[in-house]
Amino acid sequence: MRYVQFMKIGIVGGTGPAGKGLALRLSSVGYEVEIGSRSSGRAAEIVEEAVDSYPDRTFNISGVSNEEAARAETVVLATPWDSCAPTAKAYREILKGKLVICMANALARVGNEFHALYPPRGSIAADVQASVPLSRVSMAFQHLPAKELGEIESDMIGDVLVCADEQSAIDETIEIVERMPKLRGLDCGSLANAAPVEAFTAVLLQLNRLYKTRSSVHITGLE
Ligand SMILES: NC(=O)c1ccc[n+]([C@@H]2O[C@H](COP(=O)([O-])OP(=O)(O)OC[C@H]3O[C@@H](n4cnc5c(N)ncnc54)[C@H](OP(=O)(O)O)[C@@H]3O)[C@@H](O)[C@H]2O)c1
Repeated sequence: MRYVQFMKIGIVGGTGPAGKGLALRLSSVGYEVEIGSRSSGRAAEIVEEAVDSYPDRTFNISGVSNEEAARAETVVLATPWDSCAPTAKAYREILKGKLVICMANALARVGNEFHALYPPRGSIAADVQASVPLSRVSMAFQHLPAKELGEIESDMIGDVLVCADEQSAIDETIEIVERMPKLRGLDCGSLANAAPVEAFTAVLLQLNRLYKTRSSVHITGLE
């Protein structure tokens, strides 16, 4: 297995709540992180905002363009679901051979619920893989709420379900997940299984709304 513990991780579309939270969490466990944006000025502002919320800590996070973030050794796609595949495709040369982690959920608000949408290949991650066939795309982090990701003084507890068509992409993604204390990465097979994982987020959001909580996933029977 490639040793991925101390590499640089670029987060394309990292200026949203999910990208910002993940950047803080990854940086808090030792990764160098680049938050990417369509505007590097905006990325710099978001980094300042993120870092300022923990004045007593130091982080290795910088704000860059999406293209620069895509040049990192490993790349997370954190744009809205409908721009993941086109954004990845725009950087397909830069992303060749790399691990590209897609954290998108395709959801639509219907009344006061979120409903899962099913893209033509079944999942956003499969769509991204098709748009960058020479990259190793994995699906992960769908069920981790952005707010808790960014609250780095508390551990997040739960399972991160990981799918990819290449075993190396699954193994490397799990290695990153498990660098974060109390998170367990689970090998859930190929991207054919990404659709139910992405869609299940709609169920968690519904539980959160009804039970006024932040639910997460924990699979039993694997200890
Ligand atoms: N929010 C959560 O709790 C959560 C949890 C797990 C997974 N996710 C998934 O993670 C992803 C990011 O979630 P989020 O809530 O952070 O999303 P978001 O705030 O809606 O978007 C993230 C960033 O994507 C960029 N962006 C927006 N439209 C774009 C477009 N058309 N093309 C390229 N970039 C665009 C924007 O950055 P710039 O304007 O700076 O370029 C924006 O700040 C989503 O796919 C979501 O399903 C979210």
